[in-house]
Amino acid sequence: MWSCCLPIKKTESVIIMSDDRYLTFALGKGRLANKTMELFEKIGITCEEMKEKDSRKLIFVNEEMKFKFFLAKGPDVPTYVEYGAADIGVVGKDTIMEENRRVYEVLDLGYGKCRMCVCGPESARELLKHHEMIRVASKYPNIAKDYFYNKKHQTVDIIKLNGSVELGPIVKLSDVIVDIVETGSTLKENGLGVLEEICPLSARMIVNQVSMQMEPERIKKLIHDLKACL
Ligand code: PRP
Repeated sequence: MWSCCLPIKKTESVIIMSDDRYLTFALGKGRLANKTMELFEKIGITCEEMKEKDSRKLIFVNEEMKFKFFLAKGPDVPTYVEYGAADIGVVGKDTIMEENRRVYEVLDLGYGKCRMCVCGPESARELLKHHEMIRVASKYPNIAKDYFYNKKHQTVDIIKLNGSVELGPIVKLSDVIVDIVETGSTLKENGLGVLEEICPLSARMIVNQVSMQMEPERIKKLIHDLKACL
């Protein structure tokens, strides 16, 4: 069975029922979308329109296969999928955890691998051991809150930042940060390190709950073909 972020509730999704209904994909902009389209090509799903470099189009269509694609900011992808504006989304596990939307998470696509970690200067390690009240800066306040409050049972002050989070401990805004670590080079170059690992991350496919019931064959075939290819 599909894993779901929250208990099923009556959905607000609008579903068009027709023989030639399009399946709509919301893809997290950037490397993730490029990787996803590369993977889709391997299972015969293409979208020539998306390859036009200078195009200002927002929606790309494969008329023959009845697929539509659009690119969105990562954190918006689960929103589009929950409300049924997209049937399917591809986005990082970090975003899925942070947004906590009512969607089915159906497949780990294996790319975009990195880790969600508590990071900081070595001197902050002690602060994590003794449940001290510390300041935590993060682009992911919900993930940080869940980790410190529910898993570590440590009361902390969480400060939301929107980028370059590593600055937090450097300019003494926070004691530690909760952030994504991929190669570890940003931390290293700024005299910081991983203090605790929260969880591994990678790109995931998510599906609208109603779409899964309305289009089970097409969606299951897609998942099956992708699994065979991964
Ligand atoms: C992410 C993340 C780290 C960095 C980690 O930032 O927030 O800063 O990448 O990668 P590394 O371990 O390979 O060095 P991003 O590039 O998305 O920019 P941002 O900090 O402005 O959000």
